[in-house]
Amino acid sequence: MTGQELTPGRALDFTQASPARTYNALLKGRTAYASDREAADKVIAMAPDAGQVARENFQFAGRAAAWAVAEFGIGQVADIGVGVLDADIGLPSVEECVLRVALDARVVAFDNDPVVLAHARSGRSYGRVLHGDVTDLDTVFGNLELGEALDRSAPTVVVLAAVLHFVADPAAVMAELGRRLAPGSVVVLSHATTTDTETRRVDGMTKAYDKATSRIRFRSEEEILGLVDGWDMVAPPGLCDVAEWGLPEPHDGQVGEHVRVVGLVAVRPGRNDRGRER
Ligand SMILES: C[S@@+](CC[C@H](N)C(=O)[O-])C[C@H]1O[C@@H](n2cnc3c(N)ncnc32)[C@H](O)[C@@H]1O
Repeated sequence: MTGQELTPGRALDFTQASPARTYNALLKGRTAYASDREAADKVIAMAPDAGQVARENFQFAGRAAAWAVAEFGIGQVADIGVGVLDADIGLPSVEECVLRVALDARVVAFDNDPVVLAHARSGRSYGRVLHGDVTDLDTVFGNLELGEALDRSAPTVVVLAAVLHFVADPAAVMAELGRRLAPGSVVVLSHATTTDTETRRVDGMTKAYDKATSRIRFRSEEEILGLVDGWDMVAPPGLCDVAEWGLPEPHDGQVGEHVRVVGLVAVRPGRNDRGRER
């Protein structure tokens, strides 16, 4: 381990690939190190379209979050597992997309990777990122730095883009979110899938993350749909390739052929504190 301790229990370590920096390498950002580029190269060797699919995923997150804010009139967004917001990526962040449709919306970003936090604190990222682990939602909703930034009695759009495939028990995360979020809250979720993807490619990409700080777990579309069991799916489009969500034609004409990341938007049903039924 090298570097300065930034968050409880985790130090900066550039020798081990991290999901955030490997994704940054796939997006052709500048915040990846040799270990991350090596992992990204292994992913691309198995799935030559991985960089394009990563870009489609990045755009899905912003597009779907902005849509949800505008459609449901929600004024606050928690982007959990935000990743490195590196200007070299050249794509608008979730925050930028949301502010385009709702200037007074609050967007709070969280991540558990110390490099993501260090990058944000250096001022090189656009926006502020707080330490938060999606598997321990006290670190998100109970985050002392959060202050009054999010009103927990009001609906929230929660963005979980390409983060749950780094989590061993995503159903537990969704159940906990369901307990904590006000009715009418919305989840924007994307996830790498085994469905319609060659097993050898899934195996190879999984192996690329073997030495990373978190391993990747591809899941079937059925398993991903199961995560929002009891939520109201926004359909159409339902669960689909991220390049297709909310667009009449696939974005840039590209849909993953070698690796598929699928996305959905779902609403937590029920009556909220303001008496509005969903
Ligand atoms: C593939 S990147 C996705 C970034 C961004 N959400 C997007 O879709 O463009 C996955 C991100 O999730 C973060 N992450 C992984 N496990 C996490 C956890 N348990 N809690 C919070 N963030 C996590 C990683 O550090 C990384 O920044």
